Amino acid sequence: MSRIELKDLRKEFGNTVAVNDLNLTIEDGEFIVLVGPSGCGKTTTLRMIAGFEDPTSGQIELDGKIVNDLEPRDRDLGMVFQSHALFPHKNVADNIVFGLRMQNVGKEEQLKKLHEVSELVRISHLLTKMPGQCSGGESQRIALARTLVTEPSNFLLDEPLSSLDAKLRRELRAECDRLHAELQKTFVYVTHDQEEAMTLADRIVVMDLGEIVQMGSPIDIYSDPVSYFVADFFGNPAMNLIEGEFFKEGDGIEFRSDSFNVSVPASYNNMTPGKGTFGIRPENVNVSSSKGDGSRKIGLVEPLGKDTLLYFETTATRPFVAIVDGTESYSAGEPVELTFPDENMFLFDSNGDRIRS
Ligand SMILES: Nc1ncnc2c1ncn2[C@@H]1O[C@H](COP(=O)(O)OP(=O)(O)O)[C@@H](O)[C@H]1O
Ligand SMILES: [Mg+2]
Repeated sequence: MSRIELKDLRKEFGNTVAVNDLNLTIEDGEFIVLVGPSGCGKTTTLRMIAGFEDPTSGQIELDGKIVNDLEPRDRDLGMVFQSHALFPHKNVADNIVFGLRMQNVGKEEQLKKLHEVSELVRISHLLTKMPGQCSGGESQRIALARTLVTEPSNFLLDEPLSSLDAKLRRELRAECDRLHAELQKTFVYVTHDQEEAMTLADRIVVMDLGEIVQMGSPIDIYSDPVSYFVADFFGNPAMNLIEGEFFKEGDGIEFRSDSFNVSVPASYNNMTPGKGTFGIRPENVNVSSSKGDGSRKIGLVEPLGKDTLLYFETTATRPFVAIVDGTESYSAGEPVELTFPDENMFLFDSNGDRIRS
């Protein structure tokens, strides 16, 4: 049983504030994913939890006990890094049991655990090989096994799959999911990959510039982002985000930009007009055959099988994207009409904060 609490946790490197007074409670058995762009403080947070980095201020508690001064080996944590530094001159089996030997676990017990854990991550056939003879995916499994075998209460994983190709990443992602379900331990998983976060997490913690900007279930984060930053970060293809200005029009509000003018739903009538951003996810754009006036030409058609992506040129750097059913047929240059359901619109003010209806 293990619960991790971070209280006003802070880390400065010279003038850089890597982690800015973080407050986070990770419940026992939870799969939590820290996600955010490179440099936002994910690794530093994880290394402080693990004990490899001393906080500048603040507290780390494990099950209610302050562990700031505890050595990494006394924290009952297992850490898996992005680079899976295996001992090159030891075979796979010896790599895996290394931690057990350090703990003076008896030979028989070592063997028993070695075989259990090898079955769990499906590497029993590799035990006599040398690390140099193993593929990237196999090495990552071995690194996992090496951590699992010591049976820590918490697992800390720092971009463990980022060096692998897309297919292998998906495969091992499913493996992580399965391990979590089987072991029922606490997992703290760090990634810059929004898709990995969405598929793995019980709860996502979105970080930017050393701070938590939003926490919630994957679906909460996707459907109810608190800011432009979060809206832009999650989703592939990303949300269409159009810079423009909100104007008062009679009782209502009208959004105008170089590429789109949109009547904002009446529920926003009390908002403050001014510069801002209009957002709509590609899957929420309704595409219909052109009735003349509001028509725009399809720039590019990208069939993906189940879905088709339609791209529209705008004055923005990113094209506007709509997702339509793969069975519908469209061609480049064809004029169509785009409409946006009221309930799927996202509005952001000039600071990037979400405007609520
Ligand atoms: N040992 C260090 N010395 C100086 N600056 C560091 C050190 N480690 C990290 N940083 C800085 O702290 C910030 C957060 O880094 P990091 O936690 O590695 O981010 P992430 O893992 O999210 O990419 C970055 O600006 C990084 O340059
Ligand atoms: Mg990192």
